[in-house]
Amino acid sequence: MSRRRRIYEGKAKVLFEGPEPGTLVQYFKDDATAFNNRKQGVISGKGVLNNRISEYLMVRLGEIGIATHFVRRLNMREQLIREVEIIPLEVVVRNIAAGSLSKRLGIIEGTPLPRSIVEYYLKNDDLGDPLVSEEHITAFGWAAPQDLDDMMSMSLRVNDYLTGLFLGVGLRLVDFKLEFGRLWENEEMRIVIADEISPDSCRLWDVKTNQKLDKDRFREDLGAVEEAYQEVARRLGILPEGTVGDLTNVQAI
Ligand code: TMP
Ligand code: ASP
Repeated sequence: MSRRRRIYEGKAKVLFEGPEPGTLVQYFKDDATAFNNRKQGVISGKGVLNNRISEYLMVRLGEIGIATHFVRRLNMREQLIREVEIIPLEVVVRNIAAGSLSKRLGIIEGTPLPRSIVEYYLKNDDLGDPLVSEEHITAFGWAAPQDLDDMMSMSLRVNDYLTGLFLGVGLRLVDFKLEFGRLWENEEMRIVIADEISPDSCRLWDVKTNQKLDKDRFREDLGAVEEAYQEVARRLGILPEGTVGDLTNVQAI
């Protein structure tokens, strides 16, 4: 880890210089934060599981023609990614009311939404990632109208696909957050999915019991946080064998 140049350190991940130009290494930490860093903790083994879960989901998306930054997993905590210019927005897709939507609009958590709703938040920790509209985004130049169209249609395709994928393993995709980046290839720019897709960035409820199997267990102090991440990985068929309860000390190889 220390050999490479550190490009950026976020709350849950570190980006290092990659082995070739145009690539980066994304390292997954066990650190967890919520409520814009006001709550901090460690979820043992989370980095290992999110590395695998995000790999699995991004590979599946690639197979159906949705471009992502993912290249390949390198080891237990690291993956090789394409270097992109991150668009400073978080795109949230919601199917069922929960979290900030329930709070803001007074809709009881668990209420199915009349249709999937796409929201944009500005990535700005100092401001607490405020909700913004297309008007703000295009007026201030955070993304062009064409970028926004691409992000919206990709987000809805991801929602359709992942809703089915998770239902197949008994999980309801309540909502999730995507980040996007601009990737240049031979003078051409295209928008790809970046960051991660994992129980840190999705709400996943058990179909039968409505049990929460995502970061809300940490946010709301529900307990069994590690077990929830393991359960998601297990259902997707990607829990590394013999690692249950033993992911804490796994570092990059
Ligand atoms: P919210 O209900 O708190 O706005 O969250 C909506 C979805 O976005 C939920 O699946 C969790 C995810 N999310 C992140 O990945 N990062 C964040 O900083 C926030 C606030 C939410
Ligand atoms: N990741 C965000 C933070 O630290 C919020 C969240 O996921 O709830 O604050």
